[in-house]
Amino acid sequence: MTCIASLAYHEVSPVEKPIRENVLSENQFDLLTIRNETFVHDVVFHHEIESTNSAILELANESVKTPLLVVTDRQTAGRGRGTNSWWSSDGALTFSLLLDFPMLDPSQLSSFSLTVGLAVCQTIEQFAPVADLAIKWPNDVYFNEKKIAGILIERPDANDPRLAVGIGINVNNSLKSAPEDVRHSATSLTDELETELCLTNLLVECLQQLERRSRDHIHSAEELLDQWRAYCMLTGRTIKVNAGSKTIEGECHGIDASGELLVQTTSGLEKVVAGSVMEF
Ligand code: BTN
Repeated sequence: MTCIASLAYHEVSPVEKPIRENVLSENQFDLLTIRNETFVHDVVFHHEIESTNSAILELANESVKTPLLVVTDRQTAGRGRGTNSWWSSDGALTFSLLLDFPMLDPSQLSSFSLTVGLAVCQTIEQFAPVADLAIKWPNDVYFNEKKIAGILIERPDANDPRLAVGIGINVNNSLKSAPEDVRHSATSLTDELETELCLTNLLVECLQQLERRSRDHIHSAEELLDQWRAYCMLTGRTIKVNAGSKTIEGECHGIDASGELLVQTTSGLEKVVAGSVMEF
């Protein structure tokens, strides 16, 4: 795990970020552009790292300013939700953000993953305007019915108001080299669009969308509800959800104002706060 560049700086106002020597990664991440054109205060870059989420959780133990970005050319042991792993190869966009969100109450927090999913959908749409982008509750992003991005939100510890938001987007990494199970269920932008995209441009757009949508989430969450619903790929489908100790089956009736998934079962309407959708 080698950290080759950090644009760390001290006591700088967000408007006047100092000019530093730039570093170009193998993937041509332009770190200065990323920092100067987005809300991040600081960028930590690794050529190769096991997991950007694990790295940012470690950094959260030090006195770091937020929003902090950790980005890498190559992630070797990406983590997914629960015990899942996240497969990615060279050309994927994998990064994590440490955000300060002191104003979120528990219901706003559980729905924040939908808001992050929305920001990722709206980012990809800037590069693929005719794509069919959707959120598979609670936080997977699908492109033409195949998973293209995953989101992992963690807290440094239970009483810490900060959130580690990890995002993996399959961009220039073709799924042709992926393990068979991943290849069947996932896709990448290069596989769909048959071209390569600039990872710096995509990351800058994603960070800008995340800034806007996070602000909306804190100040006008109700306005996001229509957007979560518009992007919900499960609405109207017969689904099976693993919700902790029980399995819920029925027709998905969309998402409610708290971000809970609504499932019409044979015994009534169930609201699922947390879980994973196994069949849809
Ligand atoms: C999932 O689909 O279950 C979530 C996948 C999240 C993957 C991203 S890649 C960047 C960040 N670092 C990690 O180890 N995981 C997240």
